[in-house]
Amino acid sequence: MRFLHCSDIHVTQQYDPIAFRELGWRRSVAMLEHTIGGRSRAYAHASATLRAITADVERHAADHLLITGDLTAYATELEFQMARDALGSVGGSRVTCSVVPGNHDYFTPGSVQEGRFERHFRHLLESDFPEYCVAGPYPFVHLKGNDVAVVGLCSAMVPPFPGLASGLLGTDQLASFGDLLRDVRVRHRAVLVMVHHAPLDAAGQRDTFVHGLRDGDALLQLMTGPQYAVLHGHLHARFHHAATATRPHLFCAGSSTRIGDEGYWLIEVMDGRIRGGTIHAPRRSLTN
Ligand SMILES: [Fe+2]
Ligand SMILES: [Fe+2]
Repeated sequence: MRFLHCSDIHVTQQYDPIAFRELGWRRSVAMLEHTIGGRSRAYAHASATLRAITADVERHAADHLLITGDLTAYATELEFQMARDALGSVGGSRVTCSVVPGNHDYFTPGSVQEGRFERHFRHLLESDFPEYCVAGPYPFVHLKGNDVAVVGLCSAMVPPFPGLASGLLGTDQLASFGDLLRDVRVRHRAVLVMVHHAPLDAAGQRDTFVHGLRDGDALLQLMTGPQYAVLHGHLHARFHHAATATRPHLFCAGSSTRIGDEGYWLIEVMDGRIRGGTIHAPRRSLTN
């Protein structure tokens, strides 16, 4: 089977007309990176590029689209609607698409309390084994064919301050995921684990305490060898660490829609093993 893995879409609405008090202090602070920091220019085509990526699912005869978080810039209702629209029919069913949230999708306490991400993508978060869900809908499982399981974990948290963006799975989610891996219905399958934050950076080192996956080591210790892969984003760089005797494959899709660095992984799975991946750029026009 073939899986298209993209991440960090950062669909961004137009912010100019919005009154300061409607943004709240977190988004107001973030407007500095949005404007002076250049993020508004970097993601000006994010919706169109996501449409191009979903079209590439068919072009590459991929069986499934995997998106590892940060679908939005600042977790507004409109940005979630824009992301959902751009996903089109591919994003209409968990048979063809799986998503997990990133820190930008949990950007404010209000967005999390309202369950905004989960409301917009509820149909993609339903699990084949709901008995393992211990943190809202996570971990969820989507069985693919006879020998693959896609698992979605949530590492996202509301940042205490914009720019502080570490992630945590927590003991409950890790314990449930460990039980799931031993389940007789899963243990013979290749497992693609979706999580937003990075267990390791491009150099194979732990990411920083204020940006990394704090319990990434505990996650990696649950899986060894080519039967397993951790798929993530958050680091806006695209890289792959091959599986070893002591850890699974790690694929980071980087930011798939950032202008000048658009791209995603195509990951091949055969006979219950992850065979590797290739990087591709979306082919269709990248302008609105
Ligand atoms: Fe991101
Ligand atoms: Fe992120």
